[in-house]
Amino acid sequence: MPTDPVLVVHGGAWAMPDDMVEAHIRGVNNALAAGWRVLERGGSALDAVEEAVVVMEDDETFDAGRGSFLNRDGRIQLDALIMDGSTLRAGGVGCVEHLRNPVRAARKILSESPHVYFVGEGAEKFAAQHGLPLCRNEELVIPREVERLREYQAEANSHGNELFAPTTDDVTISHDTVGAVALDRNGNIAAATSTGGTLNKAPGRLGDSSLIGCGCYADNESAAASTTGWGEPIMKLVLAKWTCDRIAAGNLPEWAAQEAMNYLKQRVNGHGGIIVLDPHGHFGIAHNTPRMAWAYRTMKKQDAGVVREG
Ligand code: GLY
Repeated sequence: MPTDPVLVVHGGAWAMPDDMVEAHIRGVNNALAAGWRVLERGGSALDAVEEAVVVMEDDETFDAGRGSFLNRDGRIQLDALIMDGSTLRAGGVGCVEHLRNPVRAARKILSESPHVYFVGEGAEKFAAQHGLPLCRNEELVIPREVERLREYQAEANSHGNELFAPTTDDVTISHDTVGAVALDRNGNIAAATSTGGTLNKAPGRLGDSSLIGCGCYADNESAAASTTGWGEPIMKLVLAKWTCDRIAAGNLPEWAAQEAMNYLKQRVNGHGGIIVLDPHGHFGIAHNTPRMAWAYRTMKKQDAGVVREG
């Protein structure tokens, strides 16, 4: 008997100001609609998470694709991962500078390469060889982010420290990494995550989002998860896999998502959010930040918001 599909997406977890809430909810709803179109016609969870993430990469509201944070040199460097829970195949890209939709390149790696992970120029070359267009880095940069970096670096200089970085528990710093998890009619689950990383990051810095088990994970025998938040603490805990393992041990995703946020805070003083979905259609959405943009759809219900009560 076919499984009822489920789709959950997120668009970042932080102290999102009131005037940004509407754009975030619109953005996650648009992503939900794109992914759901795939699932309702019987498409795969893998295709659904890819299409949902592409919509958020194309939306300048989020720290993914065009409009992402700039690194210390004023350039955009993007990371993305996609993973198929039915085969454990995965594709990841890190530090790419000339791709509008890094998740599409990640998908090409998953589908058409014996390798799992490509970085920088090699990733872009692979993407181009597999039919994806390259763009100039400047095409990904928007004035809002130029100004944001300028203000940030001025503040850093006023502290006499050009390498100044916020503390990892500063929830006022935007973390608009995007992600999606899906369950399709065949009972397969998948996950995808995409990010521009952190503001003023050092060139070459890779966060959690594109690392298997950290920013994203999917296994039909446990669950699919996508995280958002400050990457370094999340990486140290391999948090997406940690959460899926709790579900494999018999816990519900709702509980595991909340536990993951507690663990992140208690163990490494980290902050962020997570979405997680099991192959039975149970899902959890949790964050330890004041707000997180999320949306979900099942056959019976659809909802979106920026606060999820635990
Ligand atoms: N979670 C996104 C990053 O830290 O790169």
